Amino acid sequence: MALQTFKARDFRCLAEAELEPDSRFNLVYGDNASGKTSLLEAIAYLGRGRSFRGASTQNLIRHSAREFVLFGKILRQDRVFSLGARNGPGGLEVSIDGERGGGAAALARRLPLQVIDPEIHNLVSGGPEERRRYLDWIVFHVEPNYLDDWRRFRRVLKQRNAALKAAATTAELESWDHEFVVLGNRVQEARARVFEVAVPRLVAAAESLLQRDIGFEYRRGWSEELSLAEALIAGRWRDQQLGSTQAGPQRADIRLIYDHRQARRLVSRGQQKLLSCAMVLAATEIAQEELKRPLLLLLDDPAAELDSASLGRLMDRVVALGCQVIATALEPQADLFPQPPAMFHVEQGVLRGVG
Ligand SMILES: Nc1ncnc2c1ncn2[C@@H]1O[C@H](COP(=O)(O)OP(=O)(O)OP(=O)(O)O)[C@@H](O)[C@H]1O
Ligand SMILES: [Mg+2]
Repeated sequence: MALQTFKARDFRCLAEAELEPDSRFNLVYGDNASGKTSLLEAIAYLGRGRSFRGASTQNLIRHSAREFVLFGKILRQDRVFSLGARNGPGGLEVSIDGERGGGAAALARRLPLQVIDPEIHNLVSGGPEERRRYLDWIVFHVEPNYLDDWRRFRRVLKQRNAALKAAATTAELESWDHEFVVLGNRVQEARARVFEVAVPRLVAAAESLLQRDIGFEYRRGWSEELSLAEALIAGRWRDQQLGSTQAGPQRADIRLIYDHRQARRLVSRGQQKLLSCAMVLAATEIAQEELKRPLLLLLDDPAAELDSASLGRLMDRVVALGCQVIATALEPQADLFPQPPAMFHVEQGVLRGVG
């Protein structure tokens, strides 16, 4: 799979931008505030239906415009299809080969991608939500029914929490518990299966980037000694006090172990970045094998926070994935890749091919 053509209109500072990326290596360079991250954010939006910077639609629409429009042509096994997304007052609108329909999940199935940007260290240093989202992305691509179970589970969780906030009786609460347990177990089991397969790749990627002993442990979100049904009963009083459900897959996490200690508060910023990159690259590798096609990897300023040896190790692993890469840098540093990349220069929101 490769993104062949990409167009963005009225996205951030990009009034009208068009890119014809190479199927392997691409470098977009330009000064600060020229629009490099905006371009990657636009491409990522076409594959996710949301901003990797967590920005609201309003902030993504170019000042004074009403909506933004994104379009891409994607080559997949000798067939080219098109993908469109727009967002504005009417909400997200997706089209596939010109036909309207589908949402963010439809985009994610057709343009699966991963992003490494200067905030990537949050995957290690931030709260568990980022790591759950990370794991769920892999499960989404590996287990076909996961999205449905996960959505249904989220719905029941919301309903149960609403009941707790409304000081519902124990009998009313119990009416949610059965479905919560069935769906919660499905979500947990899918995550556990995928995590088990992922661990050797996570360890290999992390150890090669950090050159230290790294471990990954999955925490399912409630006591290992109790079933989910037992954990709900044991936690009912606390749930009622706090007005939200304390036990369940909504509390899952991945613990990172660095030299036999918990990594989060231990490792330096550069190491947090490397560890996070290792996680992203391992996830990409797993999804690629599952989907039997190369993905798209967006690297926003990969050199940030890394010494040259670390950057070299990171790029070696990126190259070994065999995927399409679009990277950004302040300067046209072609030596980021083992062969000359397609180069693009961006200046005040205007993008043009170089050479
Ligand atoms: N909705 C918007 N409409 C117009 N301009 C915007 C909008 N959102 C952000 N910008 C502007 O877009 C410009 C480019 O931002 P961007 O983050 O893409 O720069 P960059 O090239 O990645 O810079 P850096 O090298 O500092 O990371 C900034 O000047 C920013 O203020
Ligand atoms: Mg930037």
